[in-house]
Amino acid sequence: MKNDASSPSSAAKEGGRQHLALDQSGLDAARKSLDDGAVTPSYGPWRDDVVKLLNDALATELVCVLRYKRHYFTANGVESPAIADEFLVHANEESAHADLIAERIVQLGGEPDFAPQHLLERSHAQYDESTDLQAMVRANLIAERVAVESYRQMIALIGDKDPTTRRMLEGILADEEEHADELKDWLDH
Ligand SMILES: [Fe+2]
Ligand SMILES: [Fe+2]
Repeated sequence: MKNDASSPSSAAKEGGRQHLALDQSGLDAARKSLDDGAVTPSYGPWRDDVVKLLNDALATELVCVLRYKRHYFTANGVESPAIADEFLVHANEESAHADLIAERIVQLGGEPDFAPQHLLERSHAQYDESTDLQAMVRANLIAERVAVESYRQMIALIGDKDPTTRRMLEGILADEEEHADELKDWLDH
């Protein structure tokens, strides 16, 4: 971060009135380092941290896809068709989240980590092989609540450092909250 006088968010004082002004040196810097694509020099020193956070979120989403798929195919019981359908819907939405996150990692110049051997270590949520329907719902609700908490923390950490990543995470967070809410309804059945 440069000194306040050249920051775009700082207000230049002129005749007693505050003015909002862009930082021209930042615009000039954006004309260079073309290999960085969407990432301009003012992005700050956070890129590796953000990519790491996103890669852990990617692992979480992939583990969630696997857990929901396992539950979808093994669910049986009186209410199983409806709950299994719900599991499949969630699996597909977690997969879409994984795609969004992987795409953003690449935009940031990072590499999306799909290596299966480390997925569980990096995932915030766990895999689950429950055979009982209620236990499945419960395991999924726990995983969703952990996902909600991790996305909430990520959003707070990123703040205004990367508005595009933050907006993406806010959208995913809203989906995870919806998932948790739906699972809670099933738990109450
Ligand atoms: Fe997700
Ligand atoms: Fe979810």
